[in-house]
Amino acid sequence: MSSNEHNETDNQVVPVTQTSSEVRLPNSQLPLHVLRRADVDPIAAGRAERQVSIMFLLSAVFTVLATITFFAIPVDKFIRVPGAGVTQASNLALGVTLGLAIFLIGTGAIHWARKLMPDDEVIQSRHSYASSNQIRESVMQEIREGGIESGFATRKIVRRSLLTALAVLPLPAVILALDFGPMPKNELRETLWTKGMRLVTDPTGRYLRPEDFSVGSLVSAHPENLHAWEEENHNLNARAKTSILVVRMTPEQLRTSQGEGWDYQGIIAYSKICTHVGCPIALYEHRTHHLLCPCHQSTFDLADSGNVVFGPAARRLPQLPLGVDEEGYLVALSDFQEPIGPSFWER
Ligand code: FES
Repeated sequence: MSSNEHNETDNQVVPVTQTSSEVRLPNSQLPLHVLRRADVDPIAAGRAERQVSIMFLLSAVFTVLATITFFAIPVDKFIRVPGAGVTQASNLALGVTLGLAIFLIGTGAIHWARKLMPDDEVIQSRHSYASSNQIRESVMQEIREGGIESGFATRKIVRRSLLTALAVLPLPAVILALDFGPMPKNELRETLWTKGMRLVTDPTGRYLRPEDFSVGSLVSAHPENLHAWEEENHNLNARAKTSILVVRMTPEQLRTSQGEGWDYQGIIAYSKICTHVGCPIALYEHRTHHLLCPCHQSTFDLADSGNVVFGPAARRLPQLPLGVDEEGYLVALSDFQEPIGPSFWER
């Protein structure tokens, strides 16, 4: 149904005669309805059709680019973005290309609706909720006509370009599944921590001494060389692998099941990364010595070697053995003795 053919009043179809580019509905308080250029000018309609098609085809191009960037840019490639710091290049490229692909499908559809689809104004009086068969049939007829007037069947270039864009859109979802592999092998067994490396506060970078800790206190820390390593390698992975929580309790409160040599006068350190699926943890309840992960409520007992006391985590938090150097600063006595982070690949 187009506005220059009829108007619907009280469910009666009333013909409207159009002699110019303006149409007024009978008895309507609405301002004059001005037809769009594409309604009266076939050249303008053709131009709008081409614009819509270009947007859909550009969307397809960006989807293909996203696929290419997934394979072409190594995951360990990092770049510095002004205002955002160091970031993973493949994530940035995937975000930009996929974002543009979806954006262009959306803008193409909006442009299609605004410029080419019927632009009718109608008045419809409301009756009881149950419609008569006659009305239902007239609605179905309007839907059928709407499908025809949208041009989906007749505007082949628009239809094909849209179908092309939609057909390739699921492709990145399929290839992103490749990120489930490969297995990390030894990558989570080896971190920057080595024997004698000092602990510094995160994020201020201050060296830590045993006297900085009172019983019950908790501090986030990382190795002293982390910033230099990140600058040199443009890589943030080491931060997640080396982040630790350092807490102090009295030596009598420790019930370690790993044996002697893991704490320094009641000061102990654990990986900050949950062994369930890798959320950072920092909710510490110092009376029970329990550490709670906010993601799925896994709870670890820091007084008992970080063992799991509740929740879906399958293994304890990796512990970093601590000591002090000749200047009295807290240092690691070795790397972690077990892999840090999630353990789903080991099951
Ligand atoms: S990530 Fe910690 S409980 Fe799931």
